[in-house]
Amino acid sequence: MDRLYQQTLVIIKPDAVKRGLVGEIIGRYEQKGLTIGNMKCLKPSLEILSEHYSEHVNQPFFKKLIEFMSSGEVVVMVLEGVDAVDVVRSINGATHYKNALPGTIRGTFALDITENLVHGSDSSINAKREIEIWFRSEAIL
Ligand code: RTP
Ligand code: MG
Repeated sequence: MDRLYQQTLVIIKPDAVKRGLVGEIIGRYEQKGLTIGNMKCLKPSLEILSEHYSEHVNQPFFKKLIEFMSSGEVVVMVLEGVDAVDVVRSINGATHYKNALPGTIRGTFALDITENLVHGSDSSINAKREIEIWFRSEAIL
């Protein structure tokens, strides 16, 4: 397969921000060779989270997920580089902490299914959708 230059959307979740792991997590992406295209810190509204997680709206864990994600500040980033979508998800590790391999972010730091430190887009199409949700209508600087 050809190497694809991609953008992907990463969210450093409230648990990681509260635990002081922002620098550690960004460092892992940078060490791999990905670069930051855009980044901001905010406390997300229920509206933006419902849009971001719309595919999970009928899941039993949806309410708990939205409550957790709106419980504090998050760092939202566009990361860029070769095969960025899949590379970020391999650095993040499996969703469930029991399956996340040692050395991944979740494998190293997570012991909870909801509070699992990071989000990464799961496809290039979803990356474009999510970047539009989180970074639209920015002021021209
Ligand atoms: P993410 O979207 O955050 O990168 O995580 P993912 O693709 O690995 O997992 P996904 O299936 O998209 O689930 C989104 C987030 O919902 C929470 N979750 N809770 N059974 C549960 O209680 C459950 N399953 C998922 C996690 O925070 C997960 O990252
Ligand atoms: Mg997902």
